[in-house]
Amino acid sequence: MKAAAKLMKVFITRRIPQEGMKILAAAEGCEVSQWDSDEPVPRSELLKGVQGAHGLLCLLSDKIDQEVLDAAGPNLKVISTMSVGFDHLVLSEIKKRGIRVGYTPDVLTDATAELTVALLLATSRRLPEGVEEVKSGGWSSWKPLWLCGYGLSGSTVGIIGLGRIGMAIAQRLLPFGVKRLLYSGRTAKSYAAEVNGEFVPLDTLTSESDFIVVSCSLTPETQGLCDKAFFSKMKKNAIFINSSRGAVVNQEDLYDALSSGQIAAAGLDVTTPEPLPTNHPLLTLKNCVVLPHIGSATYSTRGVMSALAAQNLLGGLQGSDMPSELTL
Ligand code: NDP
Ligand code: DGY
Repeated sequence: MKAAAKLMKVFITRRIPQEGMKILAAAEGCEVSQWDSDEPVPRSELLKGVQGAHGLLCLLSDKIDQEVLDAAGPNLKVISTMSVGFDHLVLSEIKKRGIRVGYTPDVLTDATAELTVALLLATSRRLPEGVEEVKSGGWSSWKPLWLCGYGLSGSTVGIIGLGRIGMAIAQRLLPFGVKRLLYSGRTAKSYAAEVNGEFVPLDTLTSESDFIVVSCSLTPETQGLCDKAFFSKMKKNAIFINSSRGAVVNQEDLYDALSSGQIAAAGLDVTTPEPLPTNHPLLTLKNCVVLPHIGSATYSTRGVMSALAAQNLLGGLQGSDMPSELTL
């Protein structure tokens, strides 16, 4: 007689695109429970839902710390996050417990780079202000200096963190006529030659760039990297763009830099906290464009992320290869 496959309990912290759900539904021996909502799972429900789970599929808005791991208990073999960022996972504790981690690199690189370029152009060419003026009747005539901004042609662009997404941003910006492409990070990258990237100290990047794009991961080293000292080194007509994580930026210092004219403008796809409260000072500034963390938000990208997160989860549950396993 064939032994029945051991039932694996899986908890999913949110509604996710059907691509991933179909994969899990077709998997043998998988008992799936889910926080069946488009809104984040309340902490108490997360702690309840994860109890006894062998697998956890989570999102970047779920803090997976010691408390969650304790609530899950010793069954937990795999955590699969539907994101490339993993700063919401307490990796030291996860590693100590021998739990494997899956994430979703590469599949969202193009979408995120595209959005970052859109945000850069929207900020530097003042698109939200222009749209608002059209709607509110502020458009009285064509005026020589009205709603002027800054162009990329002939400019110097500085990328903080020339990883997968940073590189894809550089590739998309170069055809606009960018003259110099600077980047900073922990180590020089051989592939930077493809975009004529110059590896420079952060101070050089900050003081010489007309556009600064932050695309690094959030680590203890990058937390608060863009602070008062950083903004004070930027050119007065420079534009600051962040599509990595909000915590890389000290938002009070950014507000001061923007409101005092220390820098020209900022575009943020990520903030602290998320969502940014509607009464936040940054939202009162015309020279600050804030988007609601939509870097990877294309239908197809989110579908592929969901499928990859499900495949990672199954690999971890079955003790086999995961398509994208994070090396701990
Ligand atoms: P990668 O790991 O490919 O790139 C991360 C880069 O960060 C690496 O090049 C790394 O450089 C750099 N980095 C690490 N430490 C520092 C440092 N101290 N100073 C400067 N650079 C540093 O990841 P991805 O490109 O795939 O993703 C990057 C981040 O983008 C994710 O971690 C996530 O937070 C964010 N993201 C945001 C999205 C959005 O919707 N807005 C969508 C997707 C991702 P080195 O190798 O030298 O350490
Ligand atoms: C990530 O994957 O880390 C993004 O922030 C959302 O796609």
